[in-house]
Amino acid sequence: MKNNLAVVGVQWGDEGKGKIVDILSEEFDCVARYQGGHNAGHTVNIGNQRHVLHLIPSGIFQPRVKCVIGGGVVLDPLALIEESQAIEKILSIGLEGRLFVSNRCHLILPYHRVLEAAVEKQLGERRIGTTSRGIGPAYEDKMGRRGLRVCDLMDTETLPEKIGELVAEKNRTLEALKYPQTIDPAPICDSYARYGKAIKGYVVNTSVLLNTMLRDGKRILFEGAQGTLLDVDHGTFPYVTSSSAAAGGVSTGLGISPKYVHSVIGVSKAYTTRVGGGPFPTESLDAPGELLRTRGNEYGSTTGRPRRCGWFDGPAARYATMINALDSIVITKIDVLDTFAQIPFCVDYKYKGAVLTEFPADAAILGDVEPVYKTLRGWQTSIAGTKEWGKLPAAAQDYLKFLSDYLEIPVTMVSTGPSREETIRV
Ligand code: GDP
Ligand code: IMO
Ligand code: MG
Repeated sequence: MKNNLAVVGVQWGDEGKGKIVDILSEEFDCVARYQGGHNAGHTVNIGNQRHVLHLIPSGIFQPRVKCVIGGGVVLDPLALIEESQAIEKILSIGLEGRLFVSNRCHLILPYHRVLEAAVEKQLGERRIGTTSRGIGPAYEDKMGRRGLRVCDLMDTETLPEKIGELVAEKNRTLEALKYPQTIDPAPICDSYARYGKAIKGYVVNTSVLLNTMLRDGKRILFEGAQGTLLDVDHGTFPYVTSSSAAAGGVSTGLGISPKYVHSVIGVSKAYTTRVGGGPFPTESLDAPGELLRTRGNEYGSTTGRPRRCGWFDGPAARYATMINALDSIVITKIDVLDTFAQIPFCVDYKYKGAVLTEFPADAAILGDVEPVYKTLRGWQTSIAGTKEWGKLPAAAQDYLKFLSDYLEIPVTMVSTGPSREETIRV
């Protein structure tokens, strides 16, 4: 069956994509990441083992699945080396032949993190609250047509000169930012030459690999990182990441035609979270928000930061449904809502007294909207680990039906706990 699927985050990331991709990938030949970098933290629970993947696709625990890191990803080679070694240890096998990295990935260098820290500091209150992984500055260099790529690592003769030129330019920028340090290119040249050797066995033209697989009728799952509201074009700019997290990024990020993306599934929590700065209309800053954080263990998988928590944001999810033309939605962490007697569900935004008909472009407007809630009935019983739709209490079924009717798409999976088994296929 030639049926390829994109799995994307509907909200501001951390929707539980890792768990869902791991489960779905059993039916695919390949899982490919198309954007982002090690800012992502995708949790996959197998048995009682918890694995957090940052760069490696969440299909890696399925033995027959090939995993691809496409050219749209920005790569910190040291992060890849550490992560691949950790997984090799867990699986007791080498990843060569199973993990493929594009020779066109742009590289994250140590100066990207330094620059990011300097810029965030300058922004003060208006800082983005990034993951400090150097993601934004690396994508800036890509779009500015300066960046180094994986293929540059493969040519150790010319590498020092290329790094030297880039470091000189970065030092000029840091000087302008009145940053107290400068960067020494020599240790970077040494370490990056070593990293190049270490990852060489994974490096190929992944676009050729994927197109060959497609021609041979193999099925590919495209794994999104972050979420639609963090997409650089369609998210809550400037409080976004620097890549195309929505389904549109699949084609450019992997070097395959959009014709091959046959369907798109969105993953969303039954409520909403966000890490970092930026508008969040349904955020609950008091007891319910705190309860969501505690019950949902809402601390970042990558940075450990407490996640901001709030109610399901209908208008934002409806917008993400349109942007991705979602065929269906997977709702995760519904068990986190178990204790609430009433569950507010945001159905509209009001701005200056009038209901908004569109998701606003301006972050200042989104920050000022007043959410209009419909209060839904809670179930106040534990549904953690439920595996069948029929075993859900009526109020939980009603909550999911309401959400599905609101978005006008089916809910095809419901996650009731972190492990593979704690899942309902609707
Ligand atoms: P991702 O970035 O979208 O892959 O999501 P993260 O892994 O960053 O965050 C999701 C967190 O929720 C992880 O700790 C998961 O183990 C956990 N999780 C996923 N699904 C469920 C669920 O249905 N219920 C509960 N309680 N936790 C879940
Ligand atoms: P996964 O794939 C949640 C957020 C950061 C910050 C903004 C920009 O696990 O869902 P960046 O470091 O990317 O420049 O930060 O984006 N962010 C995420 N939030 N989940 C993620 O990934 C995220 N990746 C980046 O917190 O607000
Ligand atoms: Mg995450």
